[in-house]
Amino acid sequence: MSILITNIKQLLQVHDSNVTLVKGKDMKTLPVLENAYLYVEHDTIIEYGEMKYCDGLEAETVIDATGKIVLPSWCDSHTHMVYAGDRTSEFVDRINGLSYAEIANRGGGILNSAKLLQDTSEEDLYEQSINRMEELIKMGTGAFEIKTGYGLTVDAELKMLRVIKRIKQESLAKIAPTLLAAHAIPEAYRTKKDKYIKLITEQLIPKAAKQNIAYYIDVFCEEGYFDINDTEAILKAGLKHKLRPKIHVNQFNILGGVAVGVKHNALSVDHLEELNEDDIKALKNSDTIPVALPGCSYFLSIPYTPARQLIDAGLPIAIATDYNPGSAPSGNMNFIVSAACVKLKMTPEEAINAATINGAYAMGISNLYGSITRGKKANLIITKPLNHYSEIPYAFAHNPVEQVIINGQLKDI
Ligand code: NIG
Ligand code: FE
Repeated sequence: MSILITNIKQLLQVHDSNVTLVKGKDMKTLPVLENAYLYVEHDTIIEYGEMKYCDGLEAETVIDATGKIVLPSWCDSHTHMVYAGDRTSEFVDRINGLSYAEIANRGGGILNSAKLLQDTSEEDLYEQSINRMEELIKMGTGAFEIKTGYGLTVDAELKMLRVIKRIKQESLAKIAPTLLAAHAIPEAYRTKKDKYIKLITEQLIPKAAKQNIAYYIDVFCEEGYFDINDTEAILKAGLKHKLRPKIHVNQFNILGGVAVGVKHNALSVDHLEELNEDDIKALKNSDTIPVALPGCSYFLSIPYTPARQLIDAGLPIAIATDYNPGSAPSGNMNFIVSAACVKLKMTPEEAINAATINGAYAMGISNLYGSITRGKKANLIITKPLNHYSEIPYAFAHNPVEQVIINGQLKDI
């Protein structure tokens, strides 16, 4: 299998040497090759360059990309896309004035999704989830982190992990699975949170580790969910079994979770709609990447992550969808790139960096994904005819994607 893409108007995120992360001022630079070609064999990027050097190259499939832009597929480093049913009734409740917290306090929210998931067969859960993913692949995403967190029992969390594993085996997309059993305190443990934490640390984490079906450990560190001590206990238990932390922090309140994440070498700290100087200080000189989730801010009408503050402090940032039924029921990365520009005041170059190479970093795969580099995986977006890549965020809520190549395979939309 070989594919040659010719006459590419702009080939984005081209790096001769293998970058794995861009931060601070460097995020303003997006390496572009004008009038280029790209050659793919099997699942790998083999060669690229200016069109004038394309002579003599042949391939089984040749795509003329005149007027079009080619870039690495989006890397969505934070999703909860394995869930059952939906929460449209809560959406209407919120329109009518209830807050996310008020809905949760009435037994809605994450607990509502947990109940729906308990009542859904593994087969049905797989079908619902893979359908969501297939739709998103067509919108240009080629790699997804997927969290558990709607099981909230040992059995149901393992059921979610098995569904994620099956998606991983059967889809062409790259998948990074995360154990988020500490997503909410289940009804049965309302007055005995410590017992639930013990269940996670002593039973679930060892079982998941033994089956080798999770890469990362996550905790919703938030008032009314898991505090700093709970978070630390769960991260330590995860690390003991080689699950690196990737955590939910500062969505509504600052509890000190950023520093706890950094202390335990978290790969990422996600949300950060609230942020203070101590958080920024903690992130400096760490390998932990902050992840902004503008779809969640949009849908819940809460503050947007102060991305400028992070970038201006010399830090990297990734952007992701947070695709989930409660706070962000869209997995469209094209919209997220646009929202990052409009609401987080990121430039198109910064937003595209945040959604490709830095998204890949935030799921631990940037050695093989997130840039156009020889030897990296062939996960690519071919756009509709566009004048400039800035049109991707500019024309918000439009779909710029015409074709995708995923794991070296061409898919028409
Ligand atoms: O990232 N904040 C916690 N978890 C999700 C929301 C999950 C839900 O409401 O179902 C989030 O926003
Ligand atoms: Fe989330």
